[in-house]
Parts: sequence; C-alpha cells; structure tokens
Amino acid sequence: MSINWYPGHMATARTKAAETMRNTDLVIELLDARAPFSSCNPVFERLRRAGKRPALKLLNKSDLADPEQTKRWLLHYNAQPSVQALGLCAKKQGELERVLTACRSLRSDRGAPDKPLRMMILGIPNVGKSTLMNAILKRHVAHVGDEPAITKIQMFHRLGPGMSLVDTPGMLWPAMEQATACKLAALHSIGRGAYDDEEVALTLGLSLLRHYPELLAQRFGVLPRPCDEHTLLGLIAERRSLARPGGGPDLARASIALLNDFRTGTLGRITLETVDETAAPA
Ligand code: G4P
Repeated sequence: MSINWYPGHMATARTKAAETMRNTDLVIELLDARAPFSSCNPVFERLRRAGKRPALKLLNKSDLADPEQTKRWLLHYNAQPSVQALGLCAKKQGELERVLTACRSLRSDRGAPDKPLRMMILGIPNVGKSTLMNAILKRHVAHVGDEPAITKIQMFHRLGPGMSLVDTPGMLWPAMEQATACKLAALHSIGRGAYDDEEVALTLGLSLLRHYPELLAQRFGVLPRPCDEHTLLGLIAERRSLARPGGGPDLARASIALLNDFRTGTLGRITLETVDETAAPA
C-alpha cells in the first residue's frame, strides 16, 4: 500500500501560509493528541523554527488520547524553547480562556492596539481547527474581515483591538512517510479514497495488540494467544457476525468497525506514538 494524498489546493495554501508566517508573532498549531508527532506538519515546523516564531502547541482531542502519554508529550514540548503546549478538548466549553491566556503569555510584548498580537493557526485536516475557530469567533470576534485576495485560502479575523488571527485550511505535506500516513489515515485526517481500510486497520491492529491488548479484549472479548493483526480482524468479523455473502469473514467490514471504534474513542483512550519511539527532535 502506498498512501499519497496531497490535493492541489493544499499546495496553494502552503505557499500562502508560508508567506503569512513572515508577518506572524505567534503560531498556534493544533496537533492530534493521539499522534502528536505524526500530526505535526514538518514543513511549517521547519519554517517556524527558521523564522524564530514561538508556538502554542495544542494537543487536541486529548479526551480520546491516553492521558499518561499526553502528559509525556506535554513535558516534551514544554521543554522546547519558545514553545508552550496544552492538552485540549476543543469540543468542551470553557477551554478557550486557557488558550488565549497562553497566547498572551507567549508574546507579552505584543497585544496593544498599536502593536497587535498577530497569530496564525495551523493544523492537519480533521484535527478540530473549525471547532476551535468557531469557539474563538463566537466569543471574541469584533469584526470578521475578509482579505479578498486570500479568502479561499486563508481567513483574517480581528479579535478585539490588540489581536488578530489568520485561519488556514487543513494542510498535509507531500512525500509523507508511509508510517505517518497510516497513522493519519487511522485518525481520519486523510481522504477516504486515498487508502485501503483493511491495510490501515491491520497496521492499527498491530499497534493496538502491542500497546493496548486489554482494551481490545474489553471490546471484542478474550483474545487468542498468539494473536496477530490478521487474527484480530478475523476475530472481530466472527464476534460481530460480519460474514461475506458468499461465506467467510467480512474483513472489510471488520476493518471499518475497528477504525470507527478507535476514531470515536469507543475502544478507549489510545495514543499511537510515544515520545521515545518517535525520537521527536527537541
Ligand atoms: P477540522 O476543521 O480541523 O477539519 O476539524 P473539525 O473542527 O471539523 O473537527 C473534526 C471532528 O473532530 C468533528 O467531529 C469534531 O466534532 C471533532 N472534534 C473536534 N475537537 C474535538 C475534541 O477535542 N475531542 C473530540 N472527541 N472530538 C473533537 P465530527 O464527527 O465531524 O462531527 P461531530 O459529530 O463531532 O459534530
């Protein structure tokens, strides 16, 4: 399997976002708490570091992630220079003030009408950016101004007198590593047509068998020993009575069942990568 999903509009948006970063005081980056390393866009991370822009890294969907791993990821990011990281559940009311307070503290030198704090927000598709943006705009927008030239690619919002925020569309990057692509497909951040459910479910199953076998057993019943990822899909098909019309286990539907249970948190709180495994650069 080779997953390659980099639609044309993302390339255009990337050029525009790179330009915007030059006039930005603070980058707000939404990461998926279930795969913080894989959901970080390396193109923008390089640009941000080169431009010495501070970052607020928001580990969103932390309600779905393994709390122990989220703690470790936060320690990891909070040890980096000019970075502050917070665990977030953008769907929950009342999270916003923490975010805006962190923004202000990262750039306390800005935020006055004559020296506004200019922020931009970045994130991969489906990471929860619209959810967070809606919460911000509902509460704080004084004027939603369209920058006509860039409306389709970015939106400029003035948040009161001393703050502005540029919203960018969900972006991925070209030539993504396949291990990363597979995790992002499991998170539902890659277009459905660009991957095979069964291949992604097998990779996810392998990871779950290694790190969260007890959650699998709680959901699908006792696992045989040994149990590999192929056995797991067969077992899900059998225990869910998912059979093909001609007979035999319906592995395609079992794959979708496993992916859905992971995505919705029905399986439990799961993180697909640890700080140590990914050796994320400091
Ligand atoms: P995007 O703009 O980055 O593409 O993401 P968007 O806000 O549209 O969110 C994608 C999905 O993730 C939505 O679910 C949204 O509700 C959900 N989501 C956003 N933040 C969180 C969070 O912190 N925790 C959890 N558990 N979910 C979150 P959906 O299924 O498309 O819609 P809905 O049924 O939830 O309304």
